[in-house]
Amino acid sequence: MSITVEPLHPTIGARVTGLDLREPAPDATIKAIEDAINRHAVLVFPGQRITDEQQINFSARLGTLETTVKAYRSDFRPRLDLRVSDVSNLDHNNQIRANNDRLRLNGLGNRLWHSDSSFKRIPARFSLLSARTIPSEGGETQFADMRAAWDALPDKMKAQLEGLICEHTQLFSRARIGFTDWSDEERAKMAPVPQVLVRTHPGSGRKSIYLSSHAGRIRSMEEPEARMLLLDLTEHATQPQFVYTHRWTVGDLVMWDNRCTMHRARAYDEAEVRDMHRTTVSDGTPTVPEAA
Ligand SMILES: [Fe+2]
Repeated sequence: MSITVEPLHPTIGARVTGLDLREPAPDATIKAIEDAINRHAVLVFPGQRITDEQQINFSARLGTLETTVKAYRSDFRPRLDLRVSDVSNLDHNNQIRANNDRLRLNGLGNRLWHSDSSFKRIPARFSLLSARTIPSEGGETQFADMRAAWDALPDKMKAQLEGLICEHTQLFSRARIGFTDWSDEERAKMAPVPQVLVRTHPGSGRKSIYLSSHAGRIRSMEEPEARMLLLDLTEHATQPQFVYTHRWTVGDLVMWDNRCTMHRARAYDEAEVRDMHRTTVSDGTPTVPEAA
């Protein structure tokens, strides 16, 4: 059985049907999914009521899985397997987190445009997010096509950006929303990492702007100048024509390519449960060689 891929937007996003992710996918199906994501950057698999184990097994076919970074903190009490990132408003007892809950406040940073794990030396390649329980309204995820955003830049700007190296850390992204509640141990683990600003996608050959709310400095540039450039580029890249907004249905699994997209979560009424489970495939190599 072959899969069907239907575009959802002129440049980014496609719906994929004709497979059941509860079953192991044949190699030909994995290849077809890789071809589809190389082209569309975001894939929506509707009607996939999968378990964490099934999500882990499918994700692992696409590369090496990351473990959740929240495990850094010694008092972290996981609700889920450490290979699954808990994108919910629930604590380890399945209770809705209080307004002033530290992990809730930290998680609000996901409403800033970002690329997953860009604060890691080896960032994320794919993220796969499964909708288990959703609020009655809100809580959409938006995706920005960083390839189309690159294509639309003037040549002079493209020439200025080529070769620039940014520094990314969660300290930068969380500081933007006033979240600074970190232990010394965490701060030490969150030292900025270098990432190139312009990437070429190995699967499509297309260039893209590699941006994230975690980016706060550009090497060889004064900080206010760098910040303004990053803000201007983010504003450019997230114009409506580059953005696909995903309105969730329970059972949706959405997979995106962090090398050539940014995404952000939208607000919802947190008196309601939103329970999403994310698996993350590592990109395998740093964007800037280790010696740099
Ligand atoms: Fe994210």
